[in-house]
Amino acid sequence: MSQDTHSVKPWGGRFSEATDAFVERFTASVEFDQRLYHHDINGSIAHATMLAAVGVLTDDEKSTIIDGLNAIREDIAAGKFNWSVSLEDVHMNVEAELTNRIGITGKKLHTGRSRNDQVATDIRLYLRDEIDAIGQELTRLQQGLVTLADNNADTIMPGFTHLQTAQPVTFGHHLLAWNEMLERDYQRLMDCRKRVNQSPLGAAALAGTTYPIDRELTAKLLGFEAPTRNSLDSVSDRDFAIEFCSFAALVMTHLSRASEELVLWTSAQFNFIDLPDRFCTGSSIMPQKKNPDVPELVRGKTGRVNGHLISLLTLMKSQPLAYNKDNQEDKEPLFDAIDTVKDCLRAFADMIPAISPVKESMYESAKRGFSTATDLADYLVRKGIPFRDSHEVVGKSVAYGIEQKKDLSEMSLEELKQFSDVIEEDVFEVLTLEGSVAARDHIGGTAPNQVKAAAAKAKALIEAR
Ligand code: ARG
Repeated sequence: MSQDTHSVKPWGGRFSEATDAFVERFTASVEFDQRLYHHDINGSIAHATMLAAVGVLTDDEKSTIIDGLNAIREDIAAGKFNWSVSLEDVHMNVEAELTNRIGITGKKLHTGRSRNDQVATDIRLYLRDEIDAIGQELTRLQQGLVTLADNNADTIMPGFTHLQTAQPVTFGHHLLAWNEMLERDYQRLMDCRKRVNQSPLGAAALAGTTYPIDRELTAKLLGFEAPTRNSLDSVSDRDFAIEFCSFAALVMTHLSRASEELVLWTSAQFNFIDLPDRFCTGSSIMPQKKNPDVPELVRGKTGRVNGHLISLLTLMKSQPLAYNKDNQEDKEPLFDAIDTVKDCLRAFADMIPAISPVKESMYESAKRGFSTATDLADYLVRKGIPFRDSHEVVGKSVAYGIEQKKDLSEMSLEELKQFSDVIEEDVFEVLTLEGSVAARDHIGGTAPNQVKAAAAKAKALIEAR
């Protein structure tokens, strides 16, 4: 990056001394906003096309501008562009280079436009593409999850509340719970996209412009749904970026919760799943270690994305209308939120199909911890005992089991009968893990046939996108 403090500023007319060298660096954004170049050039091409359509530029001028911009695009993509800090941002770097290359015609591009509507347009175009890429990764992750769930519709594991064994569930059911969170995230992302996809171009600095511009045309050329409705709002609003960051914070929160479970499940203490070596790393001192770094990092990265949401909310909260330079600070949080979410979704989408459940271990764990105690209570209720009394009876049976080191299903009928004489031989059907999950046979329940049906529905929802 060059720092030629003597170069002429595009806005230098009313200034009598050069910008202070530190101030120049302090106010510049080109180091981080150059990633907008592709969308900046697309916005400029649409603007030039519109200016020609309404007679502000000639067709020749338009073609010269478009050819020049496309050549600049190629050079930037090839890494052959010399970015200059003294030209402040991506917009002025590209425009100055255009004028360097095509001469006076380049100076006409900015007619009827300001960097204020230009930058708002660029961010929206950029974010729209990133939303689509993120949506695809989210879809890939959900496909993997639902397939794994479908394959494990009858794999029994303990379900937890308070991280204490509660009732048996199926692994498929647990995975579909994650999918529900991600399905809502996808819906939120698509809803956010609608508000991102509005064109601020033509709002100019804040009040609109005196040229006979056609905002419908630029909106259409750029694939926006419509022009925004108020010029002041158009240049100052960043709530579309805040909305994206709140989506990002939520999806990261969901990935973080799943990560936490993956980390627990890979531990020797749980031993519920095996994570292939390629998603883990070793320890430099303890040779036996295989650490679940990928889920740990996803969990860790959630913090910074939550932070970006707070940064943007705080950035906006005191800004008077319309554009303020504060808004230049929108980019780094937004870009980092985009990059982080995309990487984490990619890591998860790659990792989930590679998970193999250690079924025996899940099953053994579900057998410990009296996970069918509620089933016994429900059984007693069916035999006419009020629920509160049956709760008491089962509590006593569990205390006995703890003392005798026996699960409920391992006790004899005689042993069980000491707590209630309504207990008969048929009790063993409800005390098995299979019987317990199969009995929760309703929409949203953990019965294997319900899990199968839920997986099929989830798959259909994903395919309908
Ligand atoms: N780099 C600026 C930003 O990111 C572009 C808009 C600057 N507009 C201005 N009037 N200084 O927001």
